[in-house]
Amino acid sequence: MAIKKIASIVGARPQFIKAAPVSRALASYFKEVLIHTGQHYDYGMSEVFFTEMEMKPPDFNFGIGGGTHAEQTGKMLIELEKVFNSVKPDCILVYGDTNSTLAGALAAAKAQIPLAHVEAGLRSYNRAMPEEINRVLTDHVSELLFCPTDDAVENLVKEGIVNGIHRVGDVMYDALLYNLKLAHGNSQILKKLDLKKGEYALATVHRAANTDEKLRLSSIIKAFGSLSSQVVFPIHPRTRKMMQEWGILVNSNILLIEPVGHFDMLVLQENANAILTDSGGVQKEAYLLGVRCITLREETEWVETVKAGWNRLTGVDVKMIKDTFESWFPETERLSLYGEGKAAIEMSEILRAKLG
Ligand code: UD1
Ligand code: UDP
Repeated sequence: MAIKKIASIVGARPQFIKAAPVSRALASYFKEVLIHTGQHYDYGMSEVFFTEMEMKPPDFNFGIGGGTHAEQTGKMLIELEKVFNSVKPDCILVYGDTNSTLAGALAAAKAQIPLAHVEAGLRSYNRAMPEEINRVLTDHVSELLFCPTDDAVENLVKEGIVNGIHRVGDVMYDALLYNLKLAHGNSQILKKLDLKKGEYALATVHRAANTDEKLRLSSIIKAFGSLSSQVVFPIHPRTRKMMQEWGILVNSNILLIEPVGHFDMLVLQENANAILTDSGGVQKEAYLLGVRCITLREETEWVETVKAGWNRLTGVDVKMIKDTFESWFPETERLSLYGEGKAAIEMSEILRAKLG
């Protein structure tokens, strides 16, 4: 019997990190065709992850880059259709909730190729978030829905999706278990930046709602500047661009650095006195690493980290962020929320059972 082909679609930073353990697991049974849409393209937003995680280079890279949602998604759809016609995959795999995810899902649905969604069922219940639209639509055209959490399963059931749901755990936990050991052996970031454990906070910001509104971005930067700690801030290119455009300056306690590779990021997170972020992946990593997380949003799809007492939603209010940072120190036990670190292996077994 011919070996089955799975086309995996990635395009943005967190998708490279999630795809690495999945690619390793798929290799036992399938031929994987890796498609990079090129949504992220700077060395530090893309190639560094392929190098660190020893991933094979993508079989296709569309080089789509930035643009409006329609431009990005439309260009991706056109290119994906061409590749599907030539490669003829037996299944398409998409990750998370970016425009690359939605384009992959739509292209698969139109070509009538079975679609599997990694990180299915997440909901913020905020339809103003582009990611929420991407996830809802992707889930509704997926045949296999790989859910990281019980809440994710429930969300799908509430929307009437009952077939193809598998609660496999979170592949970011697989990635973390694998990469943390390597990070300890490889990262020199604390030495390079002269940082000591517990003596700095770590911040990331990139959500459209926070970067594209001057008042919100200014408020976040002001809040960082008000903290009684140094704040290390690896800045997403989108955020840097908007800060420049609006002339937002940083206080001297903020150390602005370029986005870092994943090994450096894990070490920076693990040793921080707190993490301030609007990232989805970083909220989870904070929990897994046992670092308190202050989420610069009004809601989150990773509700279990809040319920567990390790994540607080502050929005962008300066006083709220500062008060939370200065006075909140979680002590509750961290339960296992994201599975056993075997999500990738479980997914590949499920795919094997389905595709043969
Ligand atoms: C995208 C995803 C978001 C995800 C994030 C991960 C969508 C709608 N958003 O947001 O869900 O959390 O990736 O980081 O898909 N840019 C560069 N170099 C790069 C990449 C981006 O300069 O390598 C700049 C460009 O000006 C670009 C802007 O950042 O226009 C925004 O990039 P884009 O991929 O559209 O959205 P993100 O904010 O990165
Ligand atoms: N990350 C990284 N370097 C950075 C910032 C983030 O390696 O400078 C990693 C982070 O550890 C996590 C993932 O990128 O694994 C999260 O991606 P991002 O915040 O861009 O997107 P989101 O998870 O919000 O979709």
